[in-house]
Amino acid sequence: MILITGASGQIGVDLADYLVEKHGPDTVLVTDLRMPEKQRPNRIYDVLDVTYMESVEKIIQHRNVTEIYHLAGILSATGERHPELAWNVNVNGVRNVLEAARRFDCRVFWPSSIAVFGPTTPKVNTPQATVTEPGTMYGATKVTGELLCKFHATHHGLDVRSVRFPGIISHAAPPGGGTTDWAVDMFFQAVRHGHYTCFVTEETRLPMMYMPDAVKSVIDLMAADPDRITVRTSYNLTAFSFSAGELAAAIRKHIPDFTCDYAPDFRQDIADSWPQSIDDHCAQDDWDWQPDYNLDAMVTDMLHHVRIRIEKEEAEAAVNEKSESG
Ligand code: SER
Repeated sequence: MILITGASGQIGVDLADYLVEKHGPDTVLVTDLRMPEKQRPNRIYDVLDVTYMESVEKIIQHRNVTEIYHLAGILSATGERHPELAWNVNVNGVRNVLEAARRFDCRVFWPSSIAVFGPTTPKVNTPQATVTEPGTMYGATKVTGELLCKFHATHHGLDVRSVRFPGIISHAAPPGGGTTDWAVDMFFQAVRHGHYTCFVTEETRLPMMYMPDAVKSVIDLMAADPDRITVRTSYNLTAFSFSAGELAAAIRKHIPDFTCDYAPDFRQDIADSWPQSIDDHCAQDDWDWQPDYNLDAMVTDMLHHVRIRIEKEEAEAAVNEKSESG
């Protein structure tokens, strides 16, 4: 059985779809803190709080889990507001999962982040091995998680694999509490209102990736020959980099009247401490990493799906309103 933790989150929703499609619904156990409101037919759901070791072990043992995609985590902006929560979920959660995976002989995927880097890291083409002195609690939890992964891999032979995700752009599930959320919000606001007030400056440039590539990276990394895996902390990974102004311009090619203004908040400092671009040649060399989407292809596909999603939501809202008033 494949276990996904944090499966209602931004990556979990798309990854669960992929894994269910590939392996069949009987082999994927979809878990989160709460049962999802809208459940898909033929899916196996369960509740799992990864901060409780006993719960993690129990679910692995009872469901015969052999592979874990440990996605449960608190993102950067929420982590700055609730540092203790971030530490508990991100560090104790990954520690519990790694420990249980070792005992029950499971393979593990766990996402790290560009947030492991900080103000003292080279910002352009940030190398794989470089300074990791993050300025945020979120970054501190990710560095700690990476070191725990490496410890378990080298001391216990645990097959745990990881990537440092850049900002991820998706339409199926919204990101929650991240610093890169503007790159998703901008699409939804552009389609809904033709206007967006962005919480970082126009010049803010960050490495990013479209969700289909993020899912592909997880699948490719987990399928890679173990002898080729040379990084047991977490692989640098990127698809492209853009500034908020460049994304707005790319959206404007499709929605000419779209306007964007900029009102930076506390997330600006976090964004400013992260790299602008990433050198991911280790991922390219070790497991042939190559993204499919460039900026323009991503924008075209995102807008198509965001429009469908918003139309569907509006149609559902109209039906509900009618049934309430009728
Ligand atoms: N996208 C994440 C965030 O903004 C970074 O890992 O928190």
